[in-house]
Amino acid sequence: MNRLKITETALRDAHQSLIATRLTTDEILPILEVMDEVGYHAMEVWGGATFDACLRFLNEDPWQRLREIRKRVKKTKLQMLLRGQNLLGYKHYPDDIVEKFIQKSIENGIDIIRVFDALNDVRNLETSIKTIKKEKAHCQCAISYTTSKVHTLDYYIGLIKQMESLGTDSICIKDMAGILTPYKAYELISKIKENTKLPIELHTHCTSGIAEMTYMKAVEAGVDIIDTAISPFSGGTSQPPTESLAIVLSESERNPMLNIKVLNDIALYFKQIKEKYLESGVLNPKVLSTEPKTLSYQVPGGMLSNLLSQLKMQNAADKYEEVLAEVPRVREDLGFPPLVTPLSQMVGTQAVFNILIGERYKMVPKEIKDYVRGLYGKSPAPIKEEIKKKIIGDEEVITIRPADLLEPGFENVKEEIQGLYKSEEDILSYALFPQVAKSFLENRKDDVCNIEVIM
Ligand code: CO
Repeated sequence: MNRLKITETALRDAHQSLIATRLTTDEILPILEVMDEVGYHAMEVWGGATFDACLRFLNEDPWQRLREIRKRVKKTKLQMLLRGQNLLGYKHYPDDIVEKFIQKSIENGIDIIRVFDALNDVRNLETSIKTIKKEKAHCQCAISYTTSKVHTLDYYIGLIKQMESLGTDSICIKDMAGILTPYKAYELISKIKENTKLPIELHTHCTSGIAEMTYMKAVEAGVDIIDTAISPFSGGTSQPPTESLAIVLSESERNPMLNIKVLNDIALYFKQIKEKYLESGVLNPKVLSTEPKTLSYQVPGGMLSNLLSQLKMQNAADKYEEVLAEVPRVREDLGFPPLVTPLSQMVGTQAVFNILIGERYKMVPKEIKDYVRGLYGKSPAPIKEEIKKKIIGDEEVITIRPADLLEPGFENVKEEIQGLYKSEEDILSYALFPQVAKSFLENRKDDVCNIEVIM
């Protein structure tokens, strides 16, 4: 039996899940050399919301963070999460921007790119896969795990076969909501193992209180890699604790061989950071509690709290249960999209509208209209005809790859911020988040400008 590998999520998903991605580069840097000694398979350090949060809330350059991490992590692979054609944003970008972004991510230090599409439409992964392979990094395609009558074992095997034929190096089962139960995980992973030789990684969240059990069964089924978070940033809406899993599994034939003493030092370091965020209120103890309701509603934990705060703003918190019951109906109407960014927000908002207005689909956000028009890709199941009619009337639905409608964009973006950028990385930051990146670049410290004058 081969050694189980462990990916540490503290520096990306764990703090994204627990403290709204607020870890600063100054908090991350001092512990990196220690983390490099653990024996992790990889450290997830970039992507997801980290990029946006750096620019928007921390006044930091996300590219600079990546370079500083790379300087200190010499042995362990650095991993990022990419939303396929959406990159780290919330819409589709033209191919030339996707290619440039991936090329620069790898050039600045990324070894493994985990790429997924919210709809599991592999056409939205094609450009990413091609570019990752061309740049000689490891391409890991993730399936957005969800449940519905169309999301059968055969559906997932078919999806993995498509990813395999596009050249992916490994597969991740991305269970963003923490709804993959232990026995289902065993079944799914065993079946995948029968059908492919690609390494399989499992990513889940503790939200519903079952993640450790799911990992145990996954290990028994032969999963190759699991994602965990150092204990102070584990549990709740984050991943299971690294140390606990490392100790338990060291008693199995799949011993991950992590250095427990080093892990304890890392935990001590993150403990004081956690205390700080608890005190300031950024870490709300609520996100650390267990929410088994996610198993019955099949709604990610983050979405539950978003819905509640949307309703509170409308003075309609009493409609919470009604909205929760509407979510699966909207999802069914729309062809069972997985509830992952940006679809989770879109479906949630539509459910809120349907209930608060009292008439279904009387008001429809532009994003949902675009989704029905096919602009996000192909829905897992066909959208019901009468729903389609209600939302976009007789408008035509596109069936080609959505990004084929987009003209190349990099040169235009470059033109738009003439005089503000110092590097292609700056241009990419602007391409993804125009407003926040613009004000970040405008306010950037003068020493950067001086360097340019000297050059
Ligand atoms: Co996650």
